Amino acid sequence: MLKRLPTSAARRGLSAQPGLRQVMSQFATGVTVLTAGGDDAHGMTANAFSSVSLEPPLVLCCVAKAARMHTSIVSADSFAVNILSAEQQDLSKYFADWRRPDGMAQFDAVGWSAGAKTGAPLLDGTLAWLECELAQVLDGGDHSIFLGRVVATSRGSGEDALVFYGGKYHEVDGRARAA
Ligand SMILES: Cc1cc2nc3c(=O)[nH]c(=O)nc-3n(C[C@H](O)[C@H](O)[C@H](O)COP(=O)(O)O)c2cc1C
Repeated sequence: MLKRLPTSAARRGLSAQPGLRQVMSQFATGVTVLTAGGDDAHGMTANAFSSVSLEPPLVLCCVAKAARMHTSIVSADSFAVNILSAEQQDLSKYFADWRRPDGMAQFDAVGWSAGAKTGAPLLDGTLAWLECELAQVLDGGDHSIFLGRVVATSRGSGEDALVFYGGKYHEVDGRARAA
């Protein structure tokens, strides 16, 4: 007779029905910092980011309705996505820390330049960045889904990727990509 699954799962220290956060942590993602310029300029670490369409060029990111970033993107009507490199783990932690200063002062601690299309801060040393105009805001429960029309892109100077998996940071060697 087959052993009942909950017994073996419990022996491995796993609950029979893990929560959504626990399950989603098994999906490895890159790490981005979303930024917006203007009067409510702000930056926030986010891994809920995806490409949506090539023609027209669309991406999406999901932002908690309670986050300062939410107000900031709506107010700017645009945002930038900074794809972090392996060396930028500290930046990821910084832009996820509620104690960072408000407004443009939070960018004093980092190197950046203003995006030509949106004015959103583009961080130095990233793998790549995208500037987006806000195309649509969709309801996503306690988050909003921001659909962005991509208006500018660039490859940055970073080589190795920062990955978030299992609630921890990992690094992917950029040189291994060619294999
Ligand atoms: C690796 C990582 C990924 C995150 N991804 C998201 C995300 O996709 N959406 C979101 O709303 N918050 C995300 N967060 C949490 C926010 O970065 C954090 O709550 C932040 O302090 C909110 O900033 P704000 O309220 O100043 O805008 C993530 C945090 C980390 C460390």
